[in-house]
Amino acid sequence: MNTQKKYWESRFQEEEKIWGNQSSQSAKWAHQFFQKRGNVKRVLVLGAGYGRNSRFFSQRKYDVSGIEISTRALKIAVRFDPVTNFYQGSILDLPSIPELNNIRFDAVYGFNVLHLFLKEERKNILTFTYNLLKSPGYAVFTVFSDKEESIGKGKYVEYNTFESKPGRPVHYFTEKDLHIHFKYFQIIETKLYEETENHGRTGFHIHKLYYIALKKP
Ligand SMILES: C[S@@+](CC[C@H](N)C(=O)[O-])C[C@H]1O[C@@H](n2cnc3c(N)ncnc32)[C@H](O)[C@@H]1O
Repeated sequence: MNTQKKYWESRFQEEEKIWGNQSSQSAKWAHQFFQKRGNVKRVLVLGAGYGRNSRFFSQRKYDVSGIEISTRALKIAVRFDPVTNFYQGSILDLPSIPELNNIRFDAVYGFNVLHLFLKEERKNILTFTYNLLKSPGYAVFTVFSDKEESIGKGKYVEYNTFESKPGRPVHYFTEKDLHIHFKYFQIIETKLYEETENHGRTGFHIHKLYYIALKKP
């Protein structure tokens, strides 16, 4: 088992619904964005966890698929969000997930997942994502910004990327980074957003995230 999978398996094993039942505030933001574009029906959720965000979309009658690496998280997800189609696999290798062959999505949503990878990996994830979208297609991502208090903590891995917990590198995005990463998309909107997250036992925590809404022309 690679260290990344090990890290998430053990977190979901110990903490189960780590961030509670509520979806991220970005799911509502994404829903409004998708609605404005019209005709968004089929949505792919990357790093779907135990389903708190996919559930938000499936309850609003989107046709939702979720990709998640942790089998422990998926065990919770299939009960918490029985409507979504969950697939176990890595977003580092989306083409190897047979269920995704021949499907093209109207939209992709990824909450706090892209910043967990190194530069080359992020590039690959975004190329796969782009290829899985219809044209036109839409995407919403949230990522840790360079305004996060934890920036600089832990082992330096590469530019603006630190590993404070073994198996969990975090890249802290600058605004310029957003433009570099999403250069093949049309950036519709970005915003710096202070999101309050429920961390269960350790209470509430504020993250300084970039929200980004994109279009594949
Ligand atoms: C910060 S959590 C966010 C979870 C979910 N988006 C939510 O908000 O509830 C990151 C998620 O990405 C998953 N993940 C990490 N690496 C992955 C990979 N290579 N492929 C698919 N999922 C992955 C983790 O297991 C975890 O569920």
